[in-house]
Parts: sequence; structure tokens; C-alpha cells
Amino acid sequence: MPDKDVAAHYASDGLITAIRDGLGKLGKTPATVTVDDLAPVDEFHIGGRQASEAFLDQLTLTPSQRVLDIGCGLGGTARFATERYGCSVTGIDLTGAFVDTGKVLCDWVGLGDRVSLQQGSALDMPFESDAFDAAYMLHVGMNIADKRQLCADVYRVLRPGACFGIYDLMRTGAGELRYPVPWASVPETSALAAPDEYQEALESAGFTLTAERDRRDVALEFFANLRARTMGAGGPAPLGLHVLMGDTTPLKIANMVAGISSGTLAPVELVTRKAG
Ligand SMILES: C[S@@+](CC[C@H](N)C(=O)[O-])C[C@H]1O[C@@H](n2cnc3c(N)ncnc32)[C@H](O)[C@@H]1O
Repeated sequence: MPDKDVAAHYASDGLITAIRDGLGKLGKTPATVTVDDLAPVDEFHIGGRQASEAFLDQLTLTPSQRVLDIGCGLGGTARFATERYGCSVTGIDLTGAFVDTGKVLCDWVGLGDRVSLQQGSALDMPFESDAFDAAYMLHVGMNIADKRQLCADVYRVLRPGACFGIYDLMRTGAGELRYPVPWASVPETSALAAPDEYQEALESAGFTLTAERDRRDVALEFFANLRARTMGAGGPAPLGLHVLMGDTTPLKIANMVAGISSGTLAPVELVTRKAG
């Protein structure tokens, strides 16, 4: 699918203003904001920060490592990984508005020297071979049809023995999805695939699968809690993913949750390793 159509789906104007306004309602400013304060808006995947932590804890990241975040979005997971594990993180993402916004957020929280974000495609990464000690990707493969090419390029930029973790929405059963969903306005920009298809692409690149975990139940609980909080507060919190997804947020989430409830899709973690 054309990169420009995927980036157009996510593109959004005025993100920094919207985030600064949301922070203001929470009594924070760019000078006082922390990595944790930003989590509701800069972790664009099911389960937010908690899901990042549960997923990244499996990758054994350490302070000396150079880590790659593929499809980093605003860089929330990258900033969290740097703060929690001490590693330095490079993020790459198709959507220029996300990368530009993410760089400002890095400066606000004082991580501009340890988290580097750049615009580019996961299918043609501008990095040297063996450049990274680990890589991860959260909720990105649903936009990438050519998973073999993706896995081959990730394999190339990782050093031997490195971990590659994926946390994506995957097809887990039959059934049609209704659109829009958070990652696509129309079916043409959605590339949902089953865990087996990921595994086939990973193994063809040379990765070995070391762990797999279906997060369907955690996802349904997350959305039930989100719904209860939103209803209890009479609307969304000042900072949330509605800032990124716009007016169609409720419909996108409802369509995705319907697909998860019916068993058509689920968030799934795959942890793999490049041969040592
Ligand atoms: C749902 S968001 C997830 C962002 C981030 N990983 C997170 O969890 O907060 C999906 C992201 O994947 C990016 N993306 C989609 N296809 C891509 C590609 N071929 N190369 C790089 N980024 C891509 C989009 O621009 C978008 O920022």
C-alpha cells in the first residue's frame, strides 16, 4: 500500500498546541511535564504505557544498548524505554507530523540527546547493517503488507543475537472488520495478518520465535475501564488518543473493539531473536 496513504491517515495539524492545552488542564507546562504525564497521548497502542512495560520487559533491554523503535509515532514508547531501561533509542516513522511533534516532546522532557526520531519507512530504513542491539514495533504491522521485506530489513540492521519484539493487532479468526479503525480509514490501507503469517515472514528473514502471547483479555479489560472512566468523567480526559485520532475516535475504537470481542482480531506479542 502506498506510504503516502498511510501517512495521510495519521497526519494531523496542531498536535503540539493540542498537547500543550491538554497539559495545561492538568496543571502542567512544557517545563514541568514528565514522560509519565505524556503517556495517555503518546502511547498509541492498546493498553498504553502498561502494555509497553509488559511487552518491553521481555526484551531484556540494558543501558548500553542502541535500540530501534519501528513506527515510533510520537515516540512515547521510545522515551519510556530510555527512562526505564537506560538504553538509547532511535525511532523511525512514516508520519512527519508525528516525528516533528515527538522531537518537541523529547526536548520538553530532557531526552533529546538519548532519543532520536526521524521520518522514514520501515521498508527502506536508512541505517547501517548490524547498527542496533534490539528492535521493537508496536501496532505498526497492520499498515505494512510486505511483512517479509519488513522482517528482512529489521534483520539486516540488527546485530547477531539481538531481540526483535512485535506487539501488533493480528487476525485471530474469521469475520469482516468495519471501518474506520485506529490504523486505517478504509480496508485498502489495512494489512492485518495472522500470527502464522508474521512467523513465516520472521523465520524467512532468519529470526527464531522465542515467545508468543495473545493479549485479547487484557485489551477487552482495558477498553471496559476506559469506557467507564470516560462515562464517569462525562467525556474524554484532557490528554488521550482522541487528540491523535480526531472526531472519529469513538467510531474507530468501537469498530476495533467489536472485532476483538468477536474474535476476528487481537493484540498479540511476538518475541524473536536473530541468530547469534
Ligand atoms: C498506531 S500508530 C503506533 C505508533 C507507536 N508505535 C505507538 O505505539 O505509539 C502506527 C504508526 O506506524 C507508522 N507506520 C505505518 N507504516 C509505516 C511504515 N511503513 N514505516 C514506518 N512507520 C510506519 C504510522 O505512521 C504510525 O505512526
